[in-house]
Amino acid sequence: MIKKAVIPAAGLGTRFLPVTKAQPKEMLPIIDTPTIQYVVQEAVDSGIEDILIISGKGKRAIEDHFDRNWELEALLNEKENKKLYNEMRHIGDMADIHFIRQKETNGLGDAIRYARHHVGNEPFAVLLGDTVIDTVIPATQQLIDIYEQYRQSIVAVEEVPPEKVSRYGIISGKQVSDRLWQIDRMVEKPEVGKSPTNLAFAGRYILTPGIFDAIDKTTRGKNNEIQLTDAMTLLMRHESLFAYVAQGKRFDVGNKMDYLKTIVHYAIKRKEFAGEFKAFLKDIVGGIDEK
Ligand code: G1P
Repeated sequence: MIKKAVIPAAGLGTRFLPVTKAQPKEMLPIIDTPTIQYVVQEAVDSGIEDILIISGKGKRAIEDHFDRNWELEALLNEKENKKLYNEMRHIGDMADIHFIRQKETNGLGDAIRYARHHVGNEPFAVLLGDTVIDTVIPATQQLIDIYEQYRQSIVAVEEVPPEKVSRYGIISGKQVSDRLWQIDRMVEKPEVGKSPTNLAFAGRYILTPGIFDAIDKTTRGKNNEIQLTDAMTLLMRHESLFAYVAQGKRFDVGNKMDYLKTIVHYAIKRKEFAGEFKAFLKDIVGGIDEK
């Protein structure tokens, strides 16, 4: 059983400056809820009980968010605002949440390295802290279900448009079933036109503990960083790796265009906004069409 998850949240958020200058991109709100709370909720909904968040410089707001806020709780309780009070209490009680700070931003592979002692000798889940996936069955749960069958590392992938491959880690391999591939090659952010496929890593992984030795042997790769993709390539010398085309709609919240789409997507799903917001969108789109 997979009970531990690691959420890397140490990146500098340079794609989202200036708002990320003094606040973590993982705290960017999807209307009223920070992105990373959705990610933690997905982990919890997938049966994860213990979460290690890899934070870094300027990320204290994430720690505060998952801590109790006694003053606020007392105020809400006093005002008999029970619903909000319960919601605030719930955030602190979602799971056993721990933090460790990455000392320098040296890439995703390096960030995962910090989880070694916490994770120990068990397989674990990785959920990128700036990516949300809207699904019926949580994406991490989908990967865990495959892991239970194969007992090997499984990575979520999705098809991306060919002109966007250079933003992602890309796999190629042998198709095992409808959504499952056995990986034979991985490349981090290939140039457009030089990518083996357009199956891209989608921000969710189940990794065996062998990944830690592989990370230790990984040298700097794309963007002079220790890439998780390169570490998985080393792991593949000893173990099989699978890629699963997870069901659901993925949003990379750390990217401005995707962020806009995320807000609209989640606003339409919220009962209290749906009617008025849809009418507003129609009005705007109609206005654009007429120009
Ligand atoms: C990271 C990974 C990449 C993956 C992507 C998914 O890149 O290195 O393999 O496809 O997340 O969002 P980043 O977006 O941190 O540059």
